Amino acid sequence: MGLLDGRVALVTGAGRGIGREEALLLAMHGAKLVVNDLGGGFDGSGKDIGPAAEVTAEIKKMGGEAVTNGDSVSDFKGAKRMLECALDNFKSLDIVVNNAGILRDRMLFNMSEDDWDAVLAVHLKGTFAVTRHAAEYWRNKNKETGKPVNGRVINTSSDSGLLGNASQSNYGAAKAAIAAFSGIVDQELRKYGVTVNTIAPVARTRLTVDATPATATLMAKKPGPGEFDVFDPGNIAPLVVWLASDEAKDVHGQVFRVGGRSVWVMQSWHSVGRVKGEGRWDPAALGKALQPELAKVKKETMNDVFSSGL
Ligand SMILES: NC(=O)c1ccc[n+]([C@@H]2O[C@H](COP(=O)([O-])OP(=O)(O)OC[C@H]3O[C@@H](n4cnc5c(N)ncnc54)[C@H](O)[C@@H]3O)[C@@H](O)[C@H]2O)c1
Repeated sequence: MGLLDGRVALVTGAGRGIGREEALLLAMHGAKLVVNDLGGGFDGSGKDIGPAAEVTAEIKKMGGEAVTNGDSVSDFKGAKRMLECALDNFKSLDIVVNNAGILRDRMLFNMSEDDWDAVLAVHLKGTFAVTRHAAEYWRNKNKETGKPVNGRVINTSSDSGLLGNASQSNYGAAKAAIAAFSGIVDQELRKYGVTVNTIAPVARTRLTVDATPATATLMAKKPGPGEFDVFDPGNIAPLVVWLASDEAKDVHGQVFRVGGRSVWVMQSWHSVGRVKGEGRWDPAALGKALQPELAKVKKETMNDVFSSGL
């Protein structure tokens, strides 16, 4: 008995890296899979159905059920075809893992309009498009059956958005927005029996090795014999399987960082200090009052994460 027997899952960007591992582990736990991947370069150029088809073949080889979809998540109609693919082949859609991603790192003064639009289209619009169609399907199903639909959405953010990372204003803005989107959509869909949660993974993939020189040196290093591989992309999937399972039916609107042996529970914007005047503030007096409050702010950085040991 798997944690997900009989459930139907769609994983976007499942041809490589983290998505591939998520699809394989979901299938190992009994889910039937729609394996989506556009299959292009890490910057969003080109397309190739090959990587997704290979993952589908791997799932079938281990006795699972899977079907390939090569649509782009940023194509609104393509995103609907992913839902239809699940319904046509497996008669249901229960779990959506929005994972597809690209990178086009540039400092802001060098970023083209196309670099901005392409990254926002895959991450933010793609997450919206796929979730939007699933949401309509789940709401209709709930209305027809009168029962909670037990749906799951697991979205993919990044420390780049949650903490900030220079040269990734396009990517980080999209990833922070995905975390915000997830919290809001969770509030909208929980009454139909859907949970929406977010992960921020840390793993060795082409996005952290080929596309990001800053992390390549650290990530590319393989562990010695018998050592645990903290950057193995397979380390992300167990959290996704658990979030997709019945055991996590009451986990709503949470954000987790996950990598190596660790899962962090993250907390979003919340106040850590406050000043209140007698009436409208004098600007200079306000500044003086704010200084001790600002000193309380402790910002976690991406360096803190890597130096903490995964
Ligand atoms: N690797 C990390 O440490 C890390 C850190 C934070 C966030 N992430 C996020 O994890 C997710 C997976 O990335 P990865 O690191 O495994 O990289 P990856 O490049 O190995 O995998 C991403 C996959 O998404 C696919 N894809 C790209 N555009 C698509 C589109 N429009 N439609 C469908 N598929 C598309 C690609 O073909 C690729 O197979 C991404 O959302 C990424 O931003 C990764």
